[in-house]
Amino acid sequence: MNNYLFLLSIFLGLSDDVISKSKIRSFPSDFWFGASTAAYQVEGGWNEDGKGSSIWDTACHSDLNPVRDDSNGDVAADSYHKYKRDAEIAQELGLNFYRFSISWPRILPNGFPDKINTLGVEYYTKVINELLARNVTPVVTLYHWDLPSNLQKLGGWANPSIVTWYTDYAKVVFDKFSDKVKHFITMNDPKGICFGGYGSENTAPFLNMSGIGEYLCSRNVLLAHANAYHLYDGHYRKLHNGTVGIALNFVWYEPASDTMDDNSAAVDARQFEWGQYAHPIFSKAGDYPTEFKKNIAYKSAEQGFARSRLNHLTAKDVTLIRGSADFLGVNTYTTKLAYRDASLEGMYTVPSYMDDMGAVLVKDPAWTQSQTNWLQEVPWGFSKLLIAIKNLYDNPPVYIMENGWSTEGGLLDEDRINYFRTYLNALLDALDAGCDVKGYSVWSLIDSFEWRQGYLDKYGLYEVDFSSPDKTRTPRKSAFIYKEIARSKTLDPDFEPEKFIVEVTQDSQEKLKIENDVL
Ligand SMILES: *[C@@H]1O[C@H](CO)[C@@H](O)[C@H](O)[C@H]1NC(C)=O
Ligand SMILES: *[C@@H]1O[C@H](CO)[C@@H](O)[C@H](O)[C@H]1NC(C)=O
Repeated sequence: MNNYLFLLSIFLGLSDDVISKSKIRSFPSDFWFGASTAAYQVEGGWNEDGKGSSIWDTACHSDLNPVRDDSNGDVAADSYHKYKRDAEIAQELGLNFYRFSISWPRILPNGFPDKINTLGVEYYTKVINELLARNVTPVVTLYHWDLPSNLQKLGGWANPSIVTWYTDYAKVVFDKFSDKVKHFITMNDPKGICFGGYGSENTAPFLNMSGIGEYLCSRNVLLAHANAYHLYDGHYRKLHNGTVGIALNFVWYEPASDTMDDNSAAVDARQFEWGQYAHPIFSKAGDYPTEFKKNIAYKSAEQGFARSRLNHLTAKDVTLIRGSADFLGVNTYTTKLAYRDASLEGMYTVPSYMDDMGAVLVKDPAWTQSQTNWLQEVPWGFSKLLIAIKNLYDNPPVYIMENGWSTEGGLLDEDRINYFRTYLNALLDALDAGCDVKGYSVWSLIDSFEWRQGYLDKYGLYEVDFSSPDKTRTPRKSAFIYKEIARSKTLDPDFEPEKFIVEVTQDSQEKLKIENDVL
């Protein structure tokens, strides 16, 4: 406490307690707290009970496994068998909701609805019942990157027929689960699907069809999403009164300087990263952002293509896609600086998404760095992002569907706690600025298979011991902190869990365990 506050507190007769309590900030009483996972990252059971193969099964089982630690999701956290423990964890944490995804090939092994895998449907029914029995609301993602391998043989998200394949799959999901599940997310992170899988070699199917594949995919993902939304809206909504949204990946791009050039570089970066998907759905005008379309058309002509590499959305597409969401799911982790560089020559592959964008994206070395190269703690970028969403898209209802911090592991995760606190504080700033943010979900409930990073990046509130046959889940210190935030719906920067004791237990694995009355 500084001298001024000390004198003031004597003068007002305030105790230290009251002074520090004044830093406590509150969330609205109906604000929702949750945690997220995805099927391939936690389930395992990759070929059990009739499940078909997904593009991640195919990639990880190939001779050229693209994963850094050469691992795969064959068993992962074994949630296929440990789902009761996961639901119990969600209850222990006092979560309002748990976001998980349905594996398309677990329900439809070949991708098509002619053969529905009853045991796959039973699995998700059990997961949903377990959550509801524990008073945790299930929020279900229909597609979190694990496309049936069969459909990839036919071109996957580059084939326009996938719009009907996906809609048929969505119908099966709605038919089977919408009596109990009230909140659906059609797609997780279209940029990850399209740029990651088709325009680069970041995610399955690793096509690397730079400057072409990501744009073919983009239109099909948007149309598939919109068709699923209208299917729900036209039939299931009157029966079950639920909501359907989409989760997009957001990075806040801040101009590196206040020049016009750097400002426009930042705007372009935002439009390519998320405007590409958010603008068609959430803006009043609909369609792709104008500058985004212009940049790609201009570069395509310059490069000798007969037409823009971006398939335009027809007037019918624009109408179908515009307004096709009850909420916007925001996945966001970090911020980057954007600038223009006249000597961009040779920096990016031609043609490519990055070359079309024409911006250079860097981190500020002063920012707190996680052990993951791309992830820095920049909370002011989070509030700027939320305010930009409010201004660009007429203040839509927003749920933060992913936000988190990676470590190499360990139960004492002060860095993660700090990240959650600074980001939730920034979220409260955005609420004060009038943003309609209704909920917040941590990535992740438990440690999981982190795609190309394998098991090297840990994001869980609960640690998973991947070497134990039981895949034992143990709460980290952040779990205790998050539990208190969710319980009290307040952010108290000084809160320390009373009964947080780290000790080596006597159990056979002699692993660290946190003992606590409640958790
Ligand atoms: C992906 O494409 C880029 C540009 O065409 C190329 O430099 C890179 O080597 C490719 N990667 C693979 C794994 O083929
Ligand atoms: C539908 O759900 C909303 C909350 O999402 C609620 O406000 C509304 O009253 C419900 N309508 C019906 C007809 O049940």
